[in-house]
Amino acid sequence: MRHVIEELERRRDEALAGGGARRVGAQHAKGKLTARERVELLLDKGSFEEFDMYVEHRCSDFGMEKQKIPGDGVVTGWGTINGRAIFVFSKDFTVFGGSLSEAHAAKIIKIQDMALRMRAPIIGLFDAGGARIQEGVAALGGYAEIFRRNVEASGVIPQISVIMGPCAGGDVYSPAMTDFIVMVRDTSYMFVTGPDVVKTVTNESVTAEELGGARIHTTKSSIADIAFDNDVEALLQLRRLIDFLPANNTSGAAHWPSFDDVDRVEPSLDTLVPDNANKPYDIKELIEKTVDERDFFEIQGAFAGNIVTGFGRIDGRTVGFVANQPMVLAGVLDSDASRKAARFVRFCDCYDIPIVTFVDVPGFLPGVAQEYGGLIKHGAKLLFAYSQCTTPLITVITRKAFGGAYDVMASKHIGADVNYAWPSAQIAVMGAKGAVEIIFRQDMDDKDKIAALTKSYEDRFLSPFVAAERGYIDEVIKPRETRLRIARALAMLRSKTAEKPWRKHDNIPL
Ligand code: HXC
Repeated sequence: MRHVIEELERRRDEALAGGGARRVGAQHAKGKLTARERVELLLDKGSFEEFDMYVEHRCSDFGMEKQKIPGDGVVTGWGTINGRAIFVFSKDFTVFGGSLSEAHAAKIIKIQDMALRMRAPIIGLFDAGGARIQEGVAALGGYAEIFRRNVEASGVIPQISVIMGPCAGGDVYSPAMTDFIVMVRDTSYMFVTGPDVVKTVTNESVTAEELGGARIHTTKSSIADIAFDNDVEALLQLRRLIDFLPANNTSGAAHWPSFDDVDRVEPSLDTLVPDNANKPYDIKELIEKTVDERDFFEIQGAFAGNIVTGFGRIDGRTVGFVANQPMVLAGVLDSDASRKAARFVRFCDCYDIPIVTFVDVPGFLPGVAQEYGGLIKHGAKLLFAYSQCTTPLITVITRKAFGGAYDVMASKHIGADVNYAWPSAQIAVMGAKGAVEIIFRQDMDDKDKIAALTKSYEDRFLSPFVAAERGYIDEVIKPRETRLRIARALAMLRSKTAEKPWRKHDNIPL
C-alpha cells in the first residue's frame, strides 16, 4: 500500500505543478494567479474536490504525443461558497496556454453535466488561447458540446464566467451564453479575432486592451457585467455575487440572516426628490436606504448609467432592483438602458427573484441615432421582459412616469403586483411644457396664457392622484416608509402563482 500511495502522491504532485515553475513564474509576473490558486480563493477554504486531475490529451500530431501534462490545461471540480455547492472549471494558462483539446473539453462537459444534475451554479474561470491548434476539429467539436450545455442550463442554474486572461476564438461564446461575465482590468481581454487578424482583414491597428479589454466590454459593448482591479478582488466579489443568487430555478431566492430591521424608516428620503422637477438626485441613495445593511451589488454599473440594475436583500431575501437614474441623461430610456434592464429582468424572472422597480423617467430618448439604432425593438425588449414576468413585481414611482416609459417601467397594466407612488410622483402622457405646446400651439405667443395653462396642466396631471383615482396606483406612500412597505408587499407576494398558457417558447424581439 505504501508503494501505491507514494505513486499516487508522485502523480498528484506532477499534476499540481501544472506547466512547471517557469510558466507559473511568468503567470505571477503578469499579476495573475494560477488556475488552482484562483479556485482556492473562490471556494471556502479546503472545500475544493478536484476531478480528472490525471486526464491527458490523446493528440499525436505535431509531436504532441511527447508533450503530455496531467490535467490538460483545465482544473475542474466542485466545492462550496459560504456552504453552498458550486461547480467550477478554471483554465490553466501554464499548460498549453489553457487551450482547449478534446480531453480538456470533456472535463468541462462532465462538470457542466454534474452542475445541471445537481441543480447547482457553475462558474468558469477563463485564461486561455482558444482551440488547441494541434488538434483541429476535435477541439471545435468540444467547444460546440460546451455551448449546447450552456444553453440547456440557461434559466435552470446560474452560470457565471470570469475572464482573467486571454479569452479569444472558441473561448468567447461559452461566456457569452452565461448569465454574468466578470472581467479583470488590465490582464483580461475578450475578442473573436485578435489584433493581428483585425490588422490583416480590416487594416485597423488596435491593441488587445483597446479591442477587448475590461474597459471596452463594461462601458461600450456591454459584453461584460462588471470588472475588478485584480484576481483577488474579482474572486472575493464573485463570492459576494453568488450569495445573492439562488442555487437553481426552483430553489427560491437565497436567504441570509439580516440584522437590519424590516420596519426601519428613513426620514431623509422625504427630502430626496428636489422641489425643482428638473433637478437630478441619486436614485442609488434610495436603493441603498431600502436594502438590508445598505448592501447593493450593482450589475453593469459602467454601462447605460441612466438605468441602475443590481441585487440587494430585504428581510434577508434577494431582490432585483431596476431604477431610472435621474443623474444620467435625466433617467431617460434609450436603447442601451432598455437592453440592459431587459436582460436583468429576465434573469430575475428565470430564478423567481422578486423585482423592485423605482421609476423616475421622462420618456424614451428622441433622436435619429436612437431610431436608426432600433429604439423601438430595444424598448420592446424591456416591455416584453416585464410583461412575461411571473416573479413578484413591486413598483414605486418617485417622480416622473411619462408616456410609453410609464407603461414599460413595470406598470400595473403589464402585470406588476403592487404599485406605489410617492406624493412627488407625476404620472402623465408627457411633461406640462411639452403638453401645452402641443395642445395650445395656436396660443404660443400669449406668454401669460401659456403660463396659466402650463400651471393648470401641472395641477391636474402632474400628481399621483389621477392614476390613484383609477386604481393604477395602489397607494401613495411616504418616502420614509418605502422599505417597510416593500417588505410587507414582498412577504404577501411570496405565495404568488401565475399561470401562463403553454407554448414552446416566446419570441422576444432580439
Ligand atoms: C496550443 C497554445 C495556444 C493554442 C497558446 N498556446 N495558445 N497552444 N493552442 N491555441 C501555448 C503557446 O504555444 C505557449 O506554449 C503557451 O501557450 C503560452 O503562449 P504565449 O503565446 O507564449 O503567451 P502570450 O504571449 O501571453 O500570448 C497569449 C495568446 C497567444 C495571445 C493567447 O498564445 C495566442 O495568440 N495564441 C493563439 C490564439 C489563437 O489563435 N487560438 C486559436 C483561436 S481559433 P509554450 O510551450 O511556449 O509555453 C479558435 C476557433 C474555435 O479558437 C472556434 C469555435 C467556435
